[in-house]
Amino acid sequence: MEKQAEIKKLTIDLYRYGYKAQRTPKDGLYDLIKKLPKNLVMAEIGYWAGESAEIFLKSGKVNKFYAIDQYGTAPYFSVAEKLFDLRTQGYDVVKIRGNTSTVKLPDLDFVYIDDDHSLKAVSRDINWALARNHKFIGGHDYGEGYQNTVILAVDKLLGIPKTFKDKNWLVKL
Ligand SMILES: C[S@@+](CC[C@H](N)C(=O)[O-])C[C@H]1O[C@@H](n2cnc3c(N)ncnc32)[C@H](O)[C@@H]1O
Repeated sequence: MEKQAEIKKLTIDLYRYGYKAQRTPKDGLYDLIKKLPKNLVMAEIGYWAGESAEIFLKSGKVNKFYAIDQYGTAPYFSVAEKLFDLRTQGYDVVKIRGNTSTVKLPDLDFVYIDDDHSLKAVSRDINWALARNHKFIGGHDYGEGYQNTVILAVDKLLGIPKTFKDKNWLVKL
């Protein structure tokens, strides 16, 4: 099947499971990427079906992309992963199944955090990023509904970030 047709089919499959392949608007992500330099080695924590990964990779600013997700055993995760694989085909992508309590990576230029949005998980992700990255940390869901989780963790560990549409955030270290 042609790639776009397969993406369309898998997207419909995800809808059948009650999931959207694109969970949120992405305008703010394009604005965030404009603030980043070129030749990035980056990690995304929480890649789901690869919507944001594709935007990062198509920007032309990413040389190497580490994709971290713990997924789960429900059948829709394999649909999401097929979508991720199709969307990121042809790029230098390393997929890692797990979370930041176990994953070890070399130095990075940028970490984008969009996985478990609890205070504990976001704090752990930020500390993981700080241990191997002295350039940029960003993520999603810095906004309404996340005052006691994402906002609290980011403000406490990194200071007030630059924010973008769709609850995206970025800190230059
Ligand atoms: C909101 S989705 C990511 C969406 C994606 N960044 C995008 O914009 O296209 C969250 C993802 O985080 C993953 N996840 C949840 N908790 C996690 C954790 N503690 N560690 C790693 N991945 C996790 C889920 O499996 C899911 O795929």
